[in-house]
Amino acid sequence: MDDRSNTIAGWVLGAGIVALGASIVTGEMFHAERPEKMGYPIEGVEIESEDGAAAEQPIAVYLAAADPAQGEQVFKKCVTCHTVTKGGPNQLGPNLWGAMGKPHGHVPGFPYTDALKSKPGVWDWESMSAWLKSPKGYAPGTKMTFAGLSKPEDRANLLAYLNKQSDSPLPLPTAPATPAAAAAEASDAPAAAEKAEDEPILTEAQATPTKVGGEGAPSVAGRAEQTKTR
Ligand code: HEC
Repeated sequence: MDDRSNTIAGWVLGAGIVALGASIVTGEMFHAERPEKMGYPIEGVEIESEDGAAAEQPIAVYLAAADPAQGEQVFKKCVTCHTVTKGGPNQLGPNLWGAMGKPHGHVPGFPYTDALKSKPGVWDWESMSAWLKSPKGYAPGTKMTFAGLSKPEDRANLLAYLNKQSDSPLPLPTAPATPAAAAAEASDAPAAAEKAEDEPILTEAQATPTKVGGEGAPSVAGRAEQTKTR
């Protein structure tokens, strides 16, 4: 090789080294991060937040003004995973016909998580509201990957709708007159009134409004939780 081709070869080699270096540097700068949370968000799902200002009343208060027709609209957020018609199929989540008043994990044969299935108690107004406010908060480890409905009005409307999708709807609760129910505030506390798994209807909580706390009821008068209002 003469001098000339040596020079050309040198330039080519040099350019290659520069290009390689540049690609290493940009690769460092722009390499893709693995997302912290895997999966994809479901449209319309709201993220819970502690920085809201409005104190929340017991769900019974909102239920007094609840509108099942509006609840049907809210239920659109659930149809990706749930049917609610009688005899409807299970999807990612179980069919929800007649869920109100039933024990947790009410569809026989559906592969519930232990997190939910082993949770004592039944789906009454308070527990269903707490669950839909924050499934993960209510049953840590649940596979219902739904962030929750932060607005109590949305939950009340949805509950009113859900309750109607049943052969035996529960009577609406009466709003607690005193903040005494606050004593029962305990979303993680072990359930006081445990019901037999196969007992379908919760009579005690229906009849005794001051006992609305019971198992898994996070928000009651006096110790109302902070929710973000949107
Ligand atoms: C991303 C899918 C998904 C969405 C969206 C979703 N769910 Fe679920 N849901 C599930 C799964 C999965 C389970 C079973 C959870 C477990 O076993 O831990 C479940 C369980 C439930 C249960 C318990 C049923 C029983 O038999 O005890 C209720 C009630 C419920 N969902 C209501 C709702 C409502 C109401 C909405 C809408 C506001 C909703 N879900 C949105 C997937 C979903």
